[in-house]
Amino acid sequence: MPSKVLHLDNNHPVLLEQLAAAGFENNEDYSSSKQEIEAKIHQYQGIVIRSRFKIDREFIDKAVNLKFIARVGAGLESIDIDYAESKGIALIAAPEGNRNAVGEHSLAMLLSLFNKLNMADREIRSGHWNREKNRGLELDGKTIGIIGYGNMGKSFAKKLRGFDVEVLCYDILPNVGDANAKQVSFEELQSKADVLSLHIPWTPQTDKMVDSAFITGFAKPFWLINTSRGKNVVTADLVAALESGKILGAGLDVLEYEKLSFESLFSDDMPDAMKYLIQSDKVILSPHIAGWTVESKERLAQVIVDKIKALFFGPSEQPEPKRVTGIGGFFFKSKNPDALKDWYHKHLGLATDAYGCTFWWKDAAGNDCSTQWSAFKEDTTYLEPSQKQFMQNFRVENLDYLVEKLWEEGVEVLGEIQRFDYGNFGWIMDPEGNKIELWQPIDSAFL
Ligand SMILES: NC(=O)c1ccc[n+]([C@@H]2O[C@H](COP(=O)([O-])OP(=O)(O)OC[C@H]3O[C@@H](n4cnc5c(N)ncnc54)[C@H](O)[C@@H]3O)[C@@H](O)[C@H]2O)c1
Repeated sequence: MPSKVLHLDNNHPVLLEQLAAAGFENNEDYSSSKQEIEAKIHQYQGIVIRSRFKIDREFIDKAVNLKFIARVGAGLESIDIDYAESKGIALIAAPEGNRNAVGEHSLAMLLSLFNKLNMADREIRSGHWNREKNRGLELDGKTIGIIGYGNMGKSFAKKLRGFDVEVLCYDILPNVGDANAKQVSFEELQSKADVLSLHIPWTPQTDKMVDSAFITGFAKPFWLINTSRGKNVVTADLVAALESGKILGAGLDVLEYEKLSFESLFSDDMPDAMKYLIQSDKVILSPHIAGWTVESKERLAQVIVDKIKALFFGPSEQPEPKRVTGIGGFFFKSKNPDALKDWYHKHLGLATDAYGCTFWWKDAAGNDCSTQWSAFKEDTTYLEPSQKQFMQNFRVENLDYLVEKLWEEGVEVLGEIQRFDYGNFGWIMDPEGNKIELWQPIDSAFL
């Protein structure tokens, strides 16, 4: 008998396709009431839900055959976690699927606030060309404080790497800081931050966390970005701080007043604080879409499928890709690269060309492989930010996988992966300041 999975929200098609291919029976029900679902939930081994309704004790008591609840999103707060786990139900979430989207959205809100883009855009559309009024601010030199340094907080810190900013993080867990953010006490964050970005879950401790006392504890006026949960912030207190100037501006992807399903904003009349936010030029609002991109829709679904398959069939049979498979090159600075190449050609017989020398060899499977030796002019910027005179290049099997792993392990990753027709390149730093180039080669491009 195949395991039956009930899908309660419409998701990317890879979810249904890949679960069916793995032998699950998919049933879709996107419209029945919670009571109607409860009446039939005993037939199912799994449910896949986004945020349609709360999975409470009553629901779980009726789900007598349930093995897993998968939430196509980052958090599990709409599920009674303790009760579900006490019944042996596995809980699956997919923060890996939308953390990049949240990092980018947080940055977008911040840059938009600093550059007054929303206001300037609105004014031009209504016929006003105000340059002085819309003079922007730069992030350069500012201190960004992140509260909650998990999936989303780390992603935002990674996006900030190209800016000349100091990034601090505060978290209740010890030792979560990494190369992208220095972990500090809450007091230090409050004394230094120019910008505060929230990336915490909604828990009894973080409910209404940002209130008047919290805000006045900051040494400087600051900017607030909230992409975590609306109820982390007391909106009336935020409004008071916007009016007094203690909060300079706010980017809010989530609102205290939105519904649990995140699908609409109001159940009753609009509260006064919300009326203020809507008319304020200091505020940018978005409808809980930080993690809601074209790419994250597919990635979330894929993460969920992979985790359900791992739960039923054990970890994938696929061995982990190898990390480094060989030396890809050795690059170093030279006073006179051309003269040096001639010397190596004459005395060591290297077959030099404009780029140095390419050594050809075969790997264990008989594939052609190349390793590059190159001298660079002394004023090259290619080895930056390393101060060293040389740079190693390693051949790798799966660059995207490796860079993701290294990032999770807290290794300093430099910039984004770059893709060329001779291979993909990524860069990291070792603890002694050596820049390392990682290359997933397409050797045939050189043949
Ligand atoms: N707007 C969106 O579209 C969107 C998308 C994804 C996630 N989110 C929200 O982002 C938030 C973070 O998600 P995540 O996947 O990074 O979670 P996570 O569990 O990976 O990280 C949260 C971090 O916050 C820390 N934390 C918990 N309580 C704290 C406290 N009181 N003070 C300081 N730190 C505390 C935890 O130790 C953890 O390191 C959640 O609220 C999630 O719902 C929003």
